[in-house]
Amino acid sequence: MDARIVLLGPPGSGKGTQAERMEDELGFVRLSTGDLLREAVRNETELGKRAKEYMDQGLLVPNELVIGLMKEKIDSLEGGYILDGFPRTLEQAEVLESITGIDAAINLDVDDEELVDRLTKRRSCPDCNAVFHLIYKPPAEEGVCDRCGGELYQRSDDSEETVRNRLKVYRESTFPLIEFYEKRGVLRNIDGKGDIGEIFEAIKALL
Ligand code: AP5
Repeated sequence: MDARIVLLGPPGSGKGTQAERMEDELGFVRLSTGDLLREAVRNETELGKRAKEYMDQGLLVPNELVIGLMKEKIDSLEGGYILDGFPRTLEQAEVLESITGIDAAINLDVDDEELVDRLTKRRSCPDCNAVFHLIYKPPAEEGVCDRCGGELYQRSDDSEETVRNRLKVYRESTFPLIEFYEKRGVLRNIDGKGDIGEIFEAIKALL
């Protein structure tokens, strides 16, 4: 598919889960700011060292660091792609608009208590970035990624205290993007609660 998609929604709403399926089953290229930043942290690059202090507290990494990273990546993309976790501020959205148009901004809606439950029981793969949940999407073998065999871990920002801070930051800085994309006529709201496969079918139907 050739569409350019932005995935919106609070932390834990399922952006990564749905992006993974869109990549595997629909052939999209997925660009996740969170995954790129975590890779920079693991590799202890200058960007990673600066980003870590914000990520560990559940704060957004400053615009100038993220925009530089994403501009370069987006410029190199061809065909259809999904932006997972970018933009996250109005300034980022305006920069994105100056680089490229967007065909749809898909907003996954889930209430806060479910988000806390999802994130505190999430397990992630450091090698292929697949995500699991101890109850809703357990891996076939405990602690092992179904997709690539990597060793699953718990993200350092998935503690309850940091998750609640991330939700607050989301409401203050990212929520206004819903109106931004609504005004441009590309917002598509999807109920992010319920069966993962049914949510994927709902996304597919609107593409
Ligand atoms: P990032 O990695 O983007 O985190 P996030 O937006 O907080 O989103 P998550 O990855 O936590 O959740 P998700 O919506 O992808 O949910 P998932 O599919 O995993 O960002 C991390 C940090 O990096 C930020 O805090 C910030 O510091 C920095 N950053 C990133 N982008 C930035 C930017 N643009 N500007 C500045 N800073 C930036 O699902 C969650 C769990 O729920 C999983 O366990 C999953 O299995 C489960 N699940 C999914 N769907 C369902 C369902 N339907 N039912 C039950 N369980 C489900």
